[in-house]
Amino acid sequence: MPVVISLINLKGGVGKTTLTVALAEFMAVLHGLKVLVIDLDPQTNATVALIDENEWRRRNVRGQTVLSAFTDRFSKYRIFSPDEAIIKNVSNVGGGIEGLDLLPSSIDLIEFQDDFVSEPDRFRGDLQAVLRDEMQDTLKEYDVVLIDCPPDLGFITRNGILISNYYLIPVIPDVLSTYGIPQIINRINRLKKQAGIRIKPLGLVVNKFRVQASVHRNQLRVLKANAARVGYQRVFASIISENGQVAAVMDSSLSFPSLQKKYGYNRPYEEYKQLTQEVLAYVRR
Ligand SMILES: Nc1ncnc2c1ncn2[C@@H]1O[C@H](COP(=O)(O)OP(=O)(O)O)[C@@H](O)[C@H]1O
Ligand SMILES: [Mg+2]
Repeated sequence: MPVVISLINLKGGVGKTTLTVALAEFMAVLHGLKVLVIDLDPQTNATVALIDENEWRRRNVRGQTVLSAFTDRFSKYRIFSPDEAIIKNVSNVGGGIEGLDLLPSSIDLIEFQDDFVSEPDRFRGDLQAVLRDEMQDTLKEYDVVLIDCPPDLGFITRNGILISNYYLIPVIPDVLSTYGIPQIINRINRLKKQAGIRIKPLGLVVNKFRVQASVHRNQLRVLKANAARVGYQRVFASIISENGQVAAVMDSSLSFPSLQKKYGYNRPYEEYKQLTQEVLAYVRR
């Protein structure tokens, strides 16, 4: 069975997508793992970091994104097929990384989500388990599944939680960015009880760290001290520094011959490499 990890934070801009993509690439290239990225965020950032935007458009028109898994619930016809929707060997490294696959998201999920909130009656049935029902068999083909979640705990994110063994919380170590962490833990714990699932916190990944910033150093100390009390298990020892290169390379119109070329030979390449090893060490126990 695969290890399934959801990347969750109620805040946007903390690095969920960037970490999802980087961890997936490093796991596939350096560890030879078969990895599936599921993009649950209607902003489709992970999708367009991993495949060409025109390719995404073609697939969106044909309904081969995660959206149709949801809309199929309200239609006589079935459009979604994991085999057709999953794109194989994605990434802007090496013309695509063997063993790294993507289930793309759709911008149209926003409208679907809005309809769900404004017309709950139209949406009979439980939309929380769609991904589990549709993807159960397909997931078995992978070693690791990484889920990039939208910045909320609505029904789309809950679909990710329901099929996950672990959740990982990326944070920027400042006061505002770490404010909502107890809420994430509490709400996932509540959902765990309701749904009878076993998802476990994997830890906090500190991202965009600036060693010169005293607020970052202080907040890092606070986060480490609070791990047990708040219940997020740990702060990963591998920390990702703020680095302009990372922001520039998440663009599928660029192409890189290797991970080193994409992520730089020093930082952030070494940081992601360390973090990937650390994550794998905890999930393989
Ligand atoms: N380590 C980093 N250093 C500098 N910029 C980063 C880093 N990680 C992410 N970013 C940038 O910060 C922004 C938000 O990151 P993103 O991964 O999209 O966050 P989220 O998915 O949580 O909204 C993006 O522009 C991204 O390129
Ligand atoms: Mg994102």
